[in-house]
Amino acid sequence: MNPRHFTFTAGDLGAWRIREIRTVKGDPLAPANRLQITNDIGTETGTWALHGVTSNERYVNQGEKDQLVARQEGLGRPIATHAALIPIRKTAGWWSLTQDRRREILEEQSGHIETGIRYLPAIARRLHHCRDLATEEPFDFLTWFEFSPADEPRFEELLGALRATREWDHVDREVDVRLTRID
Ligand code: HEM
Repeated sequence: MNPRHFTFTAGDLGAWRIREIRTVKGDPLAPANRLQITNDIGTETGTWALHGVTSNERYVNQGEKDQLVARQEGLGRPIATHAALIPIRKTAGWWSLTQDRRREILEEQSGHIETGIRYLPAIARRLHHCRDLATEEPFDFLTWFEFSPADEPRFEELLGALRATREWDHVDREVDVRLTRID
């Protein structure tokens, strides 16, 4: 079992109740009641299952990293009973760009990291990559966020800001799954 590998299985099991599935762009994901998060690969049976791995950072510079480390909090906080799983796919055009060009769009043009840092520590996050797995995956990233119910409006504000950026011109599929932890 690879501790960096995560499977998100939607069905009738799991510690998270699915409140809503909003299709932001592209094909939807089927409705389901619960979401289970495991480190398994493969044999899950659910309405749908998405796979991703945590990885090294690609874009962040030292100054940004220092700010992130100083401000961010981990997953699993008792107060953070709400969550969002937002799978995202980017265009072939995005992936044909060089690393420096992608960083320029993500940060210099879109301010993704600078904006995101303003929402720490309220929002805790984990980014999973899907492109380099052995199986063909429907998304390039699985983004996972945890926050308190009181901070959900701020999370909406953050999403609104990010979705209005040049970076999001390169997003061609996005689904927003909202969840509540079952205690
Ligand atoms: C909570 C505040 C947020 C912070 C502090 C934050 C920070 C970051 C950082 C530092 C990276 C770059 C990682 C690297 O160097 O490889 C990143 C990448 C990414 N973030 Fe965020 N982010 C936040 C919110 C969001 C939200 C709300 C979404 C989407 C709904 C999102 C989607 C992504 C995606 C898809 C990537 C990968 C981009 C790529 O590699 O092309 N982030 N984020």
